[in-house]
Amino acid sequence: AHLVAGGKISDRTLSLVLMDFEGTQLAELEVQLARPRFEPEAMADALADAIDALAAQAGVARSAISGVGFGIAGIVEATSGMIYWSPSLARRNVEFGAILSARLGLPAFIDNDANLVAVAEKSFGLGQDQSDFIVVTIESGVGMGLVIGGELYRGTRGCGAEFGHTKVHLDGALCRCGQRGCLEAYVADYALLREVATMPGADATASQAERIEALLAAARDGDQMARRIVERAGRIFALGLANLVNIFDPGLIILAGEQMQFDHLYAEEVIAEMRKSIVQVDKPPPEVVIHKWGNLMWARGAAAYALDKVSDLALER
Ligand code: BGC
Ligand code: NA
Ligand code: ZN
Repeated sequence: AHLVAGGKISDRTLSLVLMDFEGTQLAELEVQLARPRFEPEAMADALADAIDALAAQAGVARSAISGVGFGIAGIVEATSGMIYWSPSLARRNVEFGAILSARLGLPAFIDNDANLVAVAEKSFGLGQDQSDFIVVTIESGVGMGLVIGGELYRGTRGCGAEFGHTKVHLDGALCRCGQRGCLEAYVADYALLREVATMPGADATASQAERIEALLAAARDGDQMARRIVERAGRIFALGLANLVNIFDPGLIILAGEQMQFDHLYAEEVIAEMRKSIVQVDKPPPEVVIHKWGNLMWARGAAAYALDKVSDLALER
């Protein structure tokens, strides 16, 4: 056994890579899932099938794989493999690491999706030379990976770095976590789409991505309502980023995600607004970069994590 697999689920897309112990990628695969949400056992089945397909594609036996890393949105306790809540799972409090290990017959290591993006940035990306940096992901939800002193910081209960659920409003909009007033409930795709639904002429039959695109296009074309929606989300996001800077004072903030709503349109405004809102000192503000790596690179973070964990296991033997 000399390979690891890394996977990442985002909405209906399961992305996987196969990597050797030198970090060379041997195969990659994307699978569309039937639904956005699964019973844990069905999710483990889907992953097992995808890993079989990945191994077949690389022309190796499944037994050549010595560990699997997997990133999933939600409150994940990496040390125990427990998922307290995930928008991708139909149940709360699931010992998914154990379920997945049993299903695969392999050690499986799970973590929060955005945490593993930070691992990817640390291992192969823009965080390689940074000791203190923050990754913020905007996709369906808003995620965060926090690296302090060169190490990923997860928190004592494994539920830290949940930037998307920092509160920005009293009794505010409903979040997918079940609470109100979370940043994500104003900034994430679903929050914007909720607003779009109220726009005249909104096409309820279009896909999520199409509706976001239409919103951005309308805002670019000067549609007042569209501009208001996107600008408001951008300003709330900027305040959240400023809070992160005021708390952590990181060397770098990496904004990652396929569906970065603010990239072409408002990235500059968001960053400028953030700069105005941070504590003012006679030093340059932290650098903010947009890094659209895509799901497969995120899966590489999961593979890098698995590699690390498998090496630890080998040392313990
Ligand atoms: C979840 C995070 C996740 C983020 C991005 C949020 O709703 O709470 O755990 O990292 O979405 O997927
Ligand atoms: Na996180
Ligand atoms: Zn929330």
